[in-house]
Amino acid sequence: MVSLSVIIAATLLLTAAAHKVNIIYHNRDIAVKACSTYLTRTATLHGKKDKKGFCNVKAQQALGSMANCLHVLNQTGSIDSFLDSCKHTNLTRAQFDAAYLNASTQLVNTTAVKGFNTTKLFYQPIITPKKKIRNYKDSIGTRFINFNYASWYGIVLIGYWFALVLVSGFFNFLKFAAPNFVQSLNSRIVTKYRKYVTVPATGSKHHAEIKTYFKVFSMVVPTRAESLMIFGWVVLAIIFNCVSYHSVSPNTVWKYKYAEMGRKIADRTGVMSLYLIPPTVLFAGRNNLLQWISGWKYQRFLILHRWVARVTTLLFIVHAVGMTFNGRGIGKYQQRNGRPYVRWGYVGTIAACLMCFQGLIFLRRKAYEYFLLGHIVLGVLYMVGGYLHVEKDGYHYFYMSAFCLWALDRVLRLVRCATFGVKPAEVELIGEEMMRVTVDKPTWWKAFPGCHAFVSFMRPSCFWQSHPFTVLDSVDGKLVFLIRVKGGVSHGLYKFLSKQPNQRATIKVSIEGPYGAHNPSSRYNNTVFVGGGNGIVGLYSIAMNMAKKSKASQRIKIHWGVRNYLNLQWFYNELQQLSTVNVDTTIYVSDCQCPINTRFMEKNSDSEEDEKSSGDEKSGSDHVSSLKASLPHIEFVEGRPNAEQIVQNEISQTISPIAFTTCAHPAFVDDVRKAVVNNMDKTKQRVDLFEEIQVW
Ligand SMILES: Cc1cc2nc3c(=O)[nH]c(=O)nc-3n(C[C@H](O)[C@H](O)[C@H](O)COP(=O)(O)OP(=O)(O)OC[C@H]3O[C@@H](n4cnc5c(N)ncnc54)[C@H](O)[C@@H]3O)c2cc1C
Ligand SMILES: *[C@@H]1O[C@H](CO)[C@@H](O)[C@H](O)[C@H]1NC(C)=O
Ligand SMILES: *[C@@H]1O[C@H](CO)[C@@H](O)[C@H](O)[C@H]1NC(C)=O
Ligand SMILES: *[C@@H]1O[C@H](CO)[C@@H](O)[C@H](O)[C@H]1NC(C)=O
Ligand SMILES: *[C@@H]1O[C@H](CO)[C@@H](O)[C@H](O)[C@H]1NC(C)=O
Ligand SMILES: *[C@@H]1O[C@H](CO)[C@@H](O)[C@H](O)[C@H]1NC(C)=O
Repeated sequence: MVSLSVIIAATLLLTAAAHKVNIIYHNRDIAVKACSTYLTRTATLHGKKDKKGFCNVKAQQALGSMANCLHVLNQTGSIDSFLDSCKHTNLTRAQFDAAYLNASTQLVNTTAVKGFNTTKLFYQPIITPKKKIRNYKDSIGTRFINFNYASWYGIVLIGYWFALVLVSGFFNFLKFAAPNFVQSLNSRIVTKYRKYVTVPATGSKHHAEIKTYFKVFSMVVPTRAESLMIFGWVVLAIIFNCVSYHSVSPNTVWKYKYAEMGRKIADRTGVMSLYLIPPTVLFAGRNNLLQWISGWKYQRFLILHRWVARVTTLLFIVHAVGMTFNGRGIGKYQQRNGRPYVRWGYVGTIAACLMCFQGLIFLRRKAYEYFLLGHIVLGVLYMVGGYLHVEKDGYHYFYMSAFCLWALDRVLRLVRCATFGVKPAEVELIGEEMMRVTVDKPTWWKAFPGCHAFVSFMRPSCFWQSHPFTVLDSVDGKLVFLIRVKGGVSHGLYKFLSKQPNQRATIKVSIEGPYGAHNPSSRYNNTVFVGGGNGIVGLYSIAMNMAKKSKASQRIKIHWGVRNYLNLQWFYNELQQLSTVNVDTTIYVSDCQCPINTRFMEKNSDSEEDEKSSGDEKSGSDHVSSLKASLPHIEFVEGRPNAEQIVQNEISQTISPIAFTTCAHPAFVDDVRKAVVNNMDKTKQRVDLFEEIQVW
């Protein structure tokens, strides 16, 4: 609802822009411009300081020449357009017609006048040769109609995403509102289409996992459907910048063809890039209404953000090159380069290029916070540079619209943080690699299963950072996150906690959320969750939520792969909770040799009878068996989980539509995707895949 205001504000701004700036040019106005340019070049018909110019009834030769010229050109609506431009002088149609009649009998061919001087005021109406004025109109017209193409094409490029968002949104809505209908869509053709187009990764496998090319260059690979969407859009953008150019020669505006084409290409790319700036900013925001309409994940919008931004940058560069040709052609290159608006244009373009490079994943991976800081600084330069570059032409409304989208996202983020407040959180280190964060939540703060929230730890070293973590919603008014220790903030916390007594501390946190897309798997009769490591958090919360409401006929299955038994430590309470609901759980333990530490067992054995008080005497395998005994509702399998096998088994046994939801190590998630693609046509039932993992 709040994000709706974002869109409304942007639309208002764009509308304002459309009114203030001449975005679409009309032939009737171009005819007037052609006549005034021709007449001004041919003779001086009104005083230089005369503000009324051709509209001045007292300068009959000027008004008469204009009236004659417009009649020669015979462009529908051009006389009205001229009268419109004369509003400030109260010129009437009758005066205009009278001037035309008067002039038509007295027209003079200036070349035939002896001692004629273009710069001296001339008191007679002048003739307009038809061929000449048509050439003027074509030369000027093709220049301005080119802006129209840029605008229409720009609008189509934005509309492309809006259309896809609406269509996807509709289907996403159906997944929740009419699940039986969607799940019945499993004819051979639909399945083939999904098997080869919508479900697979672009290549054979990589999607969640970052793919590295040439050892250094790595990227997040989209799914095949995403690649097709992006490919279609990029091709469209390229075509739109290459077609419908009309060169006019001889040309009354440009002497050299390269100056003409340089300018036309520059105008096209420059104006079209303006249309792409608001969507670029919108797609990158956390509060983006389109996310909510389409049901697309933030990850997908970030992929789109990058591609739209890349194309925009390319257009900037082509614009600059085109203007260089044009500037050289008309001898204004040096002079233009000295002007502040051109220099700001350079600033914007360079910032855009740097961002394209600086945003690449291998730099994001290395130091996310530096990437973010750099991206914001460069983003500001990009916006300010662009704004100042186009302000004199009135095009800055595009930047204002983009800036408003950015600001509104920030405001909504602040509002989300402020309404949650800063609350003390219990942070506890579990084992060597996991932290459990528990914080009271306001009653109105509703987490939905699988959502995530951004957590900021209010410590001097990291209070400005906000990191996304999946919410493991607890029932009793508390919010729980499970955080794996990595290299940045989490490592700082780890060091801090490991020095605390009991390895726990109370730290103030601020929380921004909830974010994320709703998972439709609860609408399926057969739902399978395939998780690994701490990917279980989101899956568990979805499965648990489902199980609490589920009909008896609904089957919920969890496959969870962990490295060793020790890893169960931080999820032990949740695993025990599973005994209260109808969820079938299998845990795969890849490394069974890893010793299970005694502290874990002691911690968790307090409820058991505990006949031998000192755990140290137990051997590792005793611990394992008592662990298993304490989780009788869970099946343990030793060895790595095999995605292909799990998926194949599930699919071959299913008697109803089946949904797989994954969140695990990226390579494993990709294995599951591949397995689903391989096996989806081996059953008559519809097979759906949902990924909870996001990489950005
Ligand atoms: C939707 C979502 C849900 C997540 N849920 C969980 C969870 O429940 N438990 C969990 O342990 N981890 C989760 N993560 C991962 C978690 O966000 C990162 O591990 C954490 O931000 C790393 O912080 P760091 O400073 O300790 O790590 P670093 O060592 O600085 O970075 C480790 C990795 O995390 C990435 N990263 C760092 N900061 C961010 C950020 N602000 N946004 C996105 N990526 C970042 C880096 O690119 C790098 O690849 C989730 C990530 C996403 C996108
Ligand atoms: C007709 O035009 C001439 C010159 O263009 C001008 O001097 C004269 O005043 C005009 N006549 C009327 C009635 O406006
Ligand atoms: C002016 O154009 C109209 C059509 O737009 C045409 O019918 C008319 O004959 C033209 N007049 C002259 C003088 O060419
Ligand atoms: C135009 O007409 C309005 C009202 O009729 C008058 O106030 C104004 O001064 C006129 N402008 C000129 C330039 O004559
Ligand atoms: C035209 O007139 C201007 C002064 O108005 C004069 O400087 C110029 O030399 C004249 N040009 C010719 C070709 O007579
Ligand atoms: C104007 O006069 C010149 C020279 O006398 C002539 O070449 C030209 O054709 C005339 N233009 C028109 C439209 O009659």
